[in-house]
Amino acid sequence: MVLKTFRAMIVEETDNHFSRSITEKIFDELSDGEVLVKVSWSSLNYKDALSASGNRGVTKKYPHTPGIDASGVVEESSSDAFHPGDKVIVTSYDLGMNTSGGFAEYIKIPASWIVPLPAGLDLRESMIFGTAGFTAGMSVMALTRSVPPGRGDILVTGATGGVGSLSVALLAKLGYSVTAVSGKPESGPFLKGLGAQKILTRTEATVGHERPLLKGIWAGVIDTVGGEILATAIKSTDLQGVVTCCGNVASPDLPLTVFPFILRGVSLVGIDSQNCPMEARRKIWQHLASDWKPDRLDNLCREVSLDELENEIDLILKGGQTGRVVVKMDS
Ligand SMILES: NC(=O)c1ccc[n+]([C@@H]2O[C@H](COP(=O)([O-])OP(=O)(O)OC[C@H]3O[C@@H](n4cnc5c(N)ncnc54)[C@H](OP(=O)(O)O)[C@@H]3O)[C@@H](O)[C@H]2O)c1
Repeated sequence: MVLKTFRAMIVEETDNHFSRSITEKIFDELSDGEVLVKVSWSSLNYKDALSASGNRGVTKKYPHTPGIDASGVVEESSSDAFHPGDKVIVTSYDLGMNTSGGFAEYIKIPASWIVPLPAGLDLRESMIFGTAGFTAGMSVMALTRSVPPGRGDILVTGATGGVGSLSVALLAKLGYSVTAVSGKPESGPFLKGLGAQKILTRTEATVGHERPLLKGIWAGVIDTVGGEILATAIKSTDLQGVVTCCGNVASPDLPLTVFPFILRGVSLVGIDSQNCPMEARRKIWQHLASDWKPDRLDNLCREVSLDELENEIDLILKGGQTGRVVVKMDS
């Protein structure tokens, strides 16, 4: 019998060493799920690079296909909610973590993980956003609830990264004045092009970090890195400011006192895209497809094939990516 196969990235473990290859997989190797999607586009996130390099905090069992994002077309469905031909987006939940992920021509997932592609976005654009853009959207949503544009400057950290660059672009689109923190000295034109008004180095962003409270200069903060940069940003947030926190590429530590919270009413909002309820998910995707959609979304991304992903994974692990990497799966 000839088994039908499809192309996928496989990460394998041999003697505690992890290796990646692009190979053929059979459909029986896909995870259980009601909906089979032919993947058109995927994208690269920091978490994908962790899964692709054997991080057991993200992926417990290998061999494994990473890819927490996918957009594509439903091919088979046993759910009444989706039908062959529907264009769909799948981000986070367990896709690409312990469920065979989007770095493959096919995924099989529960219907409850799927967002119908909203009008105003095509499948490629949805992956320029991907989990990074959705997380930026959740962060912006948390900020806009209590900090209107015009209240003061918003600080975005890890600004050239996926979540950071899309946060800068969304905030600028909504009329906020944005200061970007970046460790890449050459990133000025990119960040200004997204709408950042000022740029700080990481060193500038941690000046005075040893003090419990600093002059209140930020109306809000979207942090993607954690550690001393986040702690300094919280200490520098003005009265009633909102700080969102989603990542730990710098450090999981948060060296702080309670003073910013009890003397300035600063709020620290945790962002967890994986467990975002579906109603809120759809609402954020609607915004990303319409009133929040940056004018030049394409300037934020580079396009690669599945075979070209290897180098991009190494680069994101070193903090070296600028903007987003979308992966073209349709040949
Ligand atoms: N909670 C959630 O739901 C959620 C969802 C998505 C992502 N995340 C997390 O958010 C973080 C960012 O994800 P991403 O996909 O945007 O990653 P990314 O594209 O690699 O961006 C991270 C950026 O952080 C900066 N950076 C890297 N290393 C740093 C260091 N040691 N100190 C300070 N800054 C550093 C770099 O920007 P500059 O060079 O411009 O400084 C880098 O481009 C990750 O920790 C990821 O796991 C969480």
